[in-house]
Amino acid sequence: MTGNDVSTAGSAGTSGTQGVHEQVVFCADEHSGLRAIIAIYSTALGPSLGGTRFYPYASEQAALADVLNLSRAMAYKNALAGLDHGGGKAVIIGDPSRDKTEALLRAYGRFVQSLGGRYLTACDVGTYSEDMDVIARESRYVTGRTVANGGAGDSSILTAYGVFQGMRAAAEHVYGTPSLRGRRVGVEGVGKVGHRLVDHLVEDGAEVVVCDVNEQAVERVRRRHPQVAAVAGRAELIAEPIDVFAPCALGGSLDDDTVAGMNARIVCGGANNQLAHAGVEKQLADRGILYAPDYVVNSGGVIQVADEIHGFNMDRARAKAAQIYDTTLKIFRIAAEEGVPPAVAADRLAERRMSEVGRIRAIWLGQ
Ligand SMILES: NC(=O)c1ccc[n+]([C@@H]2O[C@H](COP(=O)([O-])OP(=O)(O)OC[C@H]3O[C@@H](n4cnc5c(N)ncnc54)[C@H](O)[C@@H]3O)[C@@H](O)[C@H]2O)c1
Repeated sequence: MTGNDVSTAGSAGTSGTQGVHEQVVFCADEHSGLRAIIAIYSTALGPSLGGTRFYPYASEQAALADVLNLSRAMAYKNALAGLDHGGGKAVIIGDPSRDKTEALLRAYGRFVQSLGGRYLTACDVGTYSEDMDVIARESRYVTGRTVANGGAGDSSILTAYGVFQGMRAAAEHVYGTPSLRGRRVGVEGVGKVGHRLVDHLVEDGAEVVVCDVNEQAVERVRRRHPQVAAVAGRAELIAEPIDVFAPCALGGSLDDDTVAGMNARIVCGGANNQLAHAGVEKQLADRGILYAPDYVVNSGGVIQVADEIHGFNMDRARAKAAQIYDTTLKIFRIAAEEGVPPAVAADRLAERRMSEVGRIRAIWLGQ
């Protein structure tokens, strides 16, 4: 994942009640230099699951704010992905290129283990499957490990697949057919998720135009698909005559200017925290642009790593990620019925599942 979408403005759950985190744990180990915070927002649906972000936060306060937002967002994402997992997240404070050592990761793993399974960790910005292999030497509660170690590997495979399913649902809602054949799709950011999304789109017969600040990333896509066009940046991309805008770079792509200049009728992409601030979802709706909520359509990655907990099976995980199509359609339908933007409908649906399914745990199981 990218290292810059660390602001979580407009993330999941901001339209609903903020709620209270169940548990926040500060972890420190002087010798390895570990400073980490693990936040568990909710275990209503099961053990909390969410990645570990390794990032050089300016202060402990900034790290705390980020982990609180991220763990809440995971609760919403996992709820709508239909997983038996609550929401949690962890941050390690430091520069991964300088501070990441075996001792530090293993010290962190011991803190994860000490929570007894209330929190399961995985990759995020600044951590990779190889790091999960190291953490797993100290803890059973780790997923997203390398394929060589029985893990699910690179989660961008099903993230991109899920975004594609969400886009098909949006096309069905707007055009009455899920096919993207002949539609023009603008993809911002062709990294791990974006370039795989382009593969799906080309295969489905869409016309694709991309932008990326990294020229090599653009070249990689154009080598695979010479017919794909490229433009300089987001401003040029949204000014193109596109039907769909797919933000797959950093958070905050959907700001006042982007929405005002947008030609697309649909926004559906893999980036986390696409709404730059609360209220943008309403601006999109007012302009007649259908927004597929980011955390709904990009949940294929967490579906992939959650599957690993039961012994990874790609076919089973892919079948689960395919359900993102139905969930996205359902959200559009509820949004239309209740007269609210899809982002609000998604939050309500997630809150309903956490509350209704969470409540069954009050049933006494006997001795
Ligand atoms: N990888 C996953 O499984 C996963 C899961 C859920 C959400 N996400 C989110 O999807 C997004 C992409 O993740 P990724 O794993 O593909 O990361 P990545 O780092 O592989 O790709 C991001 C790409 O965006 C490009 N980029 C950065 N700034 C840009 C800008 N201003 N304009 C255009 N391009 C720009 C980068 O050069 C890079 O090629 C992130 O927001 C991430 O949080 C990823």
